[in-house]
Amino acid sequence: MAVLGIRVLGDPVLRQMTTPVTDFGPGLQQLIDDMFETMHAAHGVGLAAPQVGRTERLAVAEVKDVPYVFINPEIIEREGKLKWEEGCLSIPELYGDVMRSKRVVVQALDRDGKTFEVEGTELLGVCMQHEIDHLDGKLFIDHLSFLKRQRALANWEQEKVKYPNLIRTIVPNEALDHDDERI
Ligand code: NI
Repeated sequence: MAVLGIRVLGDPVLRQMTTPVTDFGPGLQQLIDDMFETMHAAHGVGLAAPQVGRTERLAVAEVKDVPYVFINPEIIEREGKLKWEEGCLSIPELYGDVMRSKRVVVQALDRDGKTFEVEGTELLGVCMQHEIDHLDGKLFIDHLSFLKRQRALANWEQEKVKYPNLIRTIVPNEALDHDDERI
């Protein structure tokens, strides 16, 4: 397994539409394992393939110690509204309140290609919506009001100089604050 570099805001791969997965062979299994290792090293709860420079329609998550692999996921039910403060491993140090559905049901394939459904509220529900957004080339800042987005982008202009070539190298065991909601 390997910790992969995380692409940060400005890298065009984060804005690309992903491609449904059809090959569940060793290459995909390796990518899934590497994404879990990267997510853990970064203290994240979710990570989508574009964040490591890939275009597969794949995301991983771990909420309340339960690991999830979402391949070709779709939201098949949504209900209610919820405001949640989100962050993203690809936009370090920026946070913002996002309106999401309060409850979602996601249908996806697991790493063996079997269909499953999972219902999520609170962090799991928000995380699944955030990761599926990534697979459609969307980021949480896209959901902010115009003024809040402008402010976030202005802050990012200062933050992004820390990431040469728009790649964030994860240092395992790095001390982090606010480390429970980076998705
Ligand atoms: Ni994210």
